[in-house]
Amino acid sequence: MSDRIGVAVIGCGLVGAHRARTAAADERTTLRLVIDTQPQRAALLASEHGVDAGSDWRTALTREDVSVIVISTPNALLVPIGITALRTGRHVLIEKPMGRNVTEGRALAAEARRAGTVLKVGFRHRYRESLVQARAMVRAGTIGRLIQLRARYGYGARPEHEQEWRADAELAGGGALLDEGVHVVDLFHWFAGPAQRAQAELQTAVWDLGRLEDNAFGLLRFGAGVVGQFHVGTTEWKNLFSFEIRGDMGAIHVEGLGGSYGPESLTLTRRPQSGVDVEVSRMDFADHDSSWSAEWSDFAAAFHGEGMRHGSPEDGLQVLATVDALYAAARSGSAIAIAPAPPPRGIHAR
Ligand SMILES: NC(=O)c1ccc[n+]([C@@H]2O[C@H](COP(=O)([O-])OP(=O)(O)OC[C@H]3O[C@@H](n4cnc5c(N)ncnc54)[C@H](O)[C@@H]3O)[C@@H](O)[C@H]2O)c1
Repeated sequence: MSDRIGVAVIGCGLVGAHRARTAAADERTTLRLVIDTQPQRAALLASEHGVDAGSDWRTALTREDVSVIVISTPNALLVPIGITALRTGRHVLIEKPMGRNVTEGRALAAEARRAGTVLKVGFRHRYRESLVQARAMVRAGTIGRLIQLRARYGYGARPEHEQEWRADAELAGGGALLDEGVHVVDLFHWFAGPAQRAQAELQTAVWDLGRLEDNAFGLLRFGAGVVGQFHVGTTEWKNLFSFEIRGDMGAIHVEGLGGSYGPESLTLTRRPQSGVDVEVSRMDFADHDSSWSAEWSDFAAAFHGEGMRHGSPEDGLQVLATVDALYAAARSGSAIAIAPAPPPRGIHAR
């Protein structure tokens, strides 16, 4: 028990609660403190785990028994808190999108390089079983040469959404593209490498979000001629996750995330070798989301010096560079070339 690394979670909303449970359950970490500016939220989560509660995030950085900081606050606070935490020598798990734009992301990544501690970005879908299987199939050549990616990801927001931080341009930094879109872009990069060119259309179709979009449509060009297309939004009245990967010999369709997104499944379709019969096989996954614990385990491995599979600062910067280009493309109405992100460096990626 005493060997366990102490963790503080800053921001006790939906995601902070998941992080707290995961940190408490992992055999290498122990939850010490939860913090939220809404004291009742921190108190509730603290009582669930029998740990301390606070309302000022700075107190977490004065605790000697805390070496790991999870930052699950609104987007505008991710980078300022992250930079301060790294300066005090803490390992940091920062929620996606890692910052409101690539400039903020770069400042954070630079601080992590100076600090020499682990900075991980929360892109948990890379740990989702169906997508892990899909990626292994693509790498094994099961669908031949990769040619296209197509994704739809969305939920139906509640009217109260218009009063929350996600509807505040300053706090959120972006709409659906920066919220769900970053997950899709990260998955596209995982399958096809960095995007090279971006085109986009944004729409504010239903919600009163000022200048923020409630829907984003993106078209991305990758190396080797791969094309990716996506639609994300908060007007998907029945929650939806659909991710298709097409090769010249077959296709993979991952659907559902469990719960309100429907059962998680993977359908593999193989192009007929001869004749017309298409081979179709399906895998179904349990309605238990293990991505939170798998992601945490990867983070814990990293701060034990074992390297990290996903969510490096470079992964995060790559996503923010693509998302910034998508926003620029939507504003200009033309395709925008995406500058290559700096090469991976440091101890954070393997
Ligand atoms: N990895 C994922 O799958 C995933 C999913 C959803 C959201 N997120 C990210 O997680 C972060 C939080 O999203 P959420 O849905 O949990 O939001 P939320 O609104 O449910 O929770 C945010 C919490 O932060 C608290 N907070 C605000 N300012 C604070 C401060 N200065 N100090 C401490 N706490 C403060 C709020 O009171 C609130 O309880 C966002 O960056 C979001 O993009 C990640």
